[in-house]
Amino acid sequence: MTLSVFRQGLFTNKVVFITGGSSGINLGLAEAFGTAGAKVAINGRNTAKLNDAVAYLHQKGVFAAGYAADVREYERLAQALQTVRDSWGPIDVLVCGAAGNFPSPAVGMSANAFKSVVDIDLLGTFNTCRAAFEHLRKPGACVLNISAPQASQPMAMQAHVCAAKAGVDMLTRSLALEWGGAGVRLNSICPGPIDETEGMKRLAGAPEAREKLTQVLPLQRFGTKDDVAQMALFLASPAASYVTGGIFPVDGGQSLLGGAVITQAILGG
Ligand code: HXC
Repeated sequence: MTLSVFRQGLFTNKVVFITGGSSGINLGLAEAFGTAGAKVAINGRNTAKLNDAVAYLHQKGVFAAGYAADVREYERLAQALQTVRDSWGPIDVLVCGAAGNFPSPAVGMSANAFKSVVDIDLLGTFNTCRAAFEHLRKPGACVLNISAPQASQPMAMQAHVCAAKAGVDMLTRSLALEWGGAGVRLNSICPGPIDETEGMKRLAGAPEAREKLTQVLPLQRFGTKDDVAQMALFLASPAASYVTGGIFPVDGGQSLLGGAVITQAILGG
C-alpha cells in the first residue's frame, strides 16, 4: 500500500467501519484507512476469513478488529455497529462494500439466485446505512457505497448485479438528500476491473479474457486496490467536504465503452 497523495496520519483517531472487509477491494480500503491512522472495524460473514484479514491488518500495523455478521441480517449487523460505537466512539467513515456476483444469463438464475445478489448488494447497503445512522459522527461523517459500472451499463450475464448496483447508486443519491442536513455525506465509488479481486476472478479469470479486456480499456491496464483506495481517501477527507451524492468511476475508462463491449471481451456474450 502506497499512500502517494495522502500523508500518513490524515485519519488519526477516525473510526472506519467496512462491510465485506475480509478481502479484495474492501480489505485494501481497510489497509489504506488504517495506514492513514484510522481505527478500522471490518465486517464479514465468514469468521475464519475475517480473522485472517484482521491478522493481516495487524501485521501491517493497522489498529483493527473484526465483526462477524451477514449484511442481510439487520439485527446482527446493528449489534456490531453498536459495539464499535461503544468501544471506539462515533463512526467517521462507513464503507458499504459487501457484495456478491456470479456470471449467469437471467434464464439460468432461480428467483433465489437473483434475490441473493440483490439482498447482499442493495438490501445489505440499506441495512448498513440504516443501522449505522445513529452511530455516525454528525456533522462530518462520510458514507462510501461500493458500486460498479454495471449500475449504469446494462451487461449480459449480469442482470442481477446491474439491478442491484443501480439500486445502490440511487440509494446513495436519495440518502445524500435526506442526510445532508445532518452533515452526513454519501458517495458511490464504481471500481472497474481491479486486480486480485474475487469479482475479477469470477468475471475475467481466464488469461485470454484478461488480455481482451486490457486491450479494450482506454487506460490499457487493470486497476489496483490502491487506485480505489486513493479515491476513497479523497472522498472521506476534508478535501471533499462539499462533495455528496456523487457516483465516481475508478475504472480505467470502462464506463466510456458501454456494457456490451465489456461483455464481449470478458464473457464472450
Ligand atoms: C446460477 C447461482 C450461481 C451461478 C449461485 N447461484 N451461483 N445460480 N449461476 N453461478 C444460486 C444458488 O443456486 C442459489 O439458488 C442462490 O444463487 C444462492 O446461492 P447460495 O450459495 O445459497 O447463497 P449465498 O451463500 O448467500 O451466496 C451468495 C452468492 C455467492 C452471491 C450466490 O456467489 C457469494 O457468496 N458471493 C460472495 C463473493 C462474491 O461474489 N464476491 C464478488 C463480488 S464482486 P437456489 O435457487 O439454488 O437456492 C462484485 C462486483 C461486481 O459484486 C462488479 C465486478 C466488476
